[in-house]
Amino acid sequence: VHRLIGEGEPVDLEQLIAGLALGDRAPADRPYVIANFAVSVDGRSTLGGVSRGLGGEDDRRLFHVLRACADAVMAGTGTLRAERYGRMIRRGEGLALRERLGLAAQPIACTVTLSGSVPLDIPLFADPASRVVVYAGAPVNVAGAAADVEVVALPAGAPPMRAALADLRRRRGVRLLLCEGGPTVFDALLGEGVVDELFLTLAPVLAGGTGPGLTRGLALRAPASLDPEWVLQGDGSLFLRYRLRN
Ligand SMILES: NC(=O)c1ccc[n+]([C@@H]2O[C@H](COP(=O)([O-])OP(=O)(O)OC[C@H]3O[C@@H](n4cnc5c(N)ncnc54)[C@H](OP(=O)(O)O)[C@@H]3O)[C@@H](O)[C@H]2O)c1
Repeated sequence: VHRLIGEGEPVDLEQLIAGLALGDRAPADRPYVIANFAVSVDGRSTLGGVSRGLGGEDDRRLFHVLRACADAVMAGTGTLRAERYGRMIRRGEGLALRERLGLAAQPIACTVTLSGSVPLDIPLFADPASRVVVYAGAPVNVAGAAADVEVVALPAGAPPMRAALADLRRRRGVRLLLCEGGPTVFDALLGEGVVDELFLTLAPVLAGGTGPGLTRGLALRAPASLDPEWVLQGDGSLFLRYRLRN
């Protein structure tokens, strides 16, 4: 047992995360997949139905640095709807980091829908600078969207997440995929055994209520084991990084 909390060395999140070069770890058939979540100390991933309010400015910074390092960002349709997603990279420092890393100004935004119900009224679809890929198990009509939106039909009978990931890697050259949730999509990715790392912010709050935890669904049939990689702290939050033992 070691004491972790103390004075500690300050870290530069941008250097730390970009320096990991996580995309270099991508296998041939899918991107390297990292997930980023914030939860309350009692394990809830929402406060009043959204994640805002979990985590302070340091968590926002981690969120934006992870986005800035990713080739593509996946969010479930429930999260797109609840959080009203818009353009992925807006801050100048994020754009500058992507330029230094040789990445396109905007990561590909992607989502997976089995029912075909996509919240097309969110700002993301109205943004001409955004490129969106919708992996769909049912027809989706994206006519009228100002963003560059492509709908890719999921093959019937195949694991949907693996199919989406193979398309991202092979057809679009995505090496690092950041999954921003929500709990249902995270559960589906875990169930298909395609999550490599979890960045988890433990926010210094007890949320109470009946909101979801980190996973929701039945895809993860057996507990998944994790190896801790680091623990950082800022704003009273703990920033944990785990590797999945796939
Ligand atoms: N604290 C955090 O860090 C954090 C992060 C993200 C989200 N959240 C919160 O989480 C909530 C949303 O989470 P959620 O779990 O309801 O939604 P979600 O995971 O964002 O999206 C769920 C939807 O994904 C689709 N889907 C795609 N592949 C699937 C599969 N294999 N199995 C099942 N469904 C699949 C289904 O929609 P179709 O009907 O279209 O098929 C499903 O309803 C929001 O309140 C959000 O604020 C918190």
